Amino acid sequence: AKLLVLHGPNLNLLGTREPEIYGHATLEEIDADLATRALAKGHELESFQSNAEHELIARVQAAREDDTDFILINPAGFTHTSVALRDALAAVAIPFIEVHLSNPHAREPFRRTSYFSDLAVGVVCGFGPLSYGLALAAAMRKLESGD
Ligand code: DQA
Repeated sequence: AKLLVLHGPNLNLLGTREPEIYGHATLEEIDADLATRALAKGHELESFQSNAEHELIARVQAAREDDTDFILINPAGFTHTSVALRDALAAVAIPFIEVHLSNPHAREPFRRTSYFSDLAVGVVCGFGPLSYGLALAAAMRKLESGD
């Protein structure tokens, strides 16, 4: 199957960005690890990062045309602000898992609101880079079992 990983704003800075919160792994390392794990199970995985809301929306819209089966998305700061990115995911109706490195529920109150969680198949947060690995494992289980 075809999986798409979307990373929102500032995640390009992983490795140096508040490492006590987000860990030391770079985005390149995380993406390479995910691609290797997906390939090992016979899946195809592409990653895309943008700091721009319109680019993330355009990539979600394109996912309908390129037959993406499943999306993992860390909307980053847009988690708490973007009705438009939420609407794009609802429009394409591709199942997705919401991912966060940190646990937004254990941080500032404004991070407790997500415009994505109620549409998501599930949410994985709080495990650092492992959050992505756990979300990928869950997505592949879903794809393989067909439910
Ligand atoms: C984040 C959590 C968000 O609240 C924050 O704005 C981010 C990263 C995370 O992965 O922990 O940029 O999505």
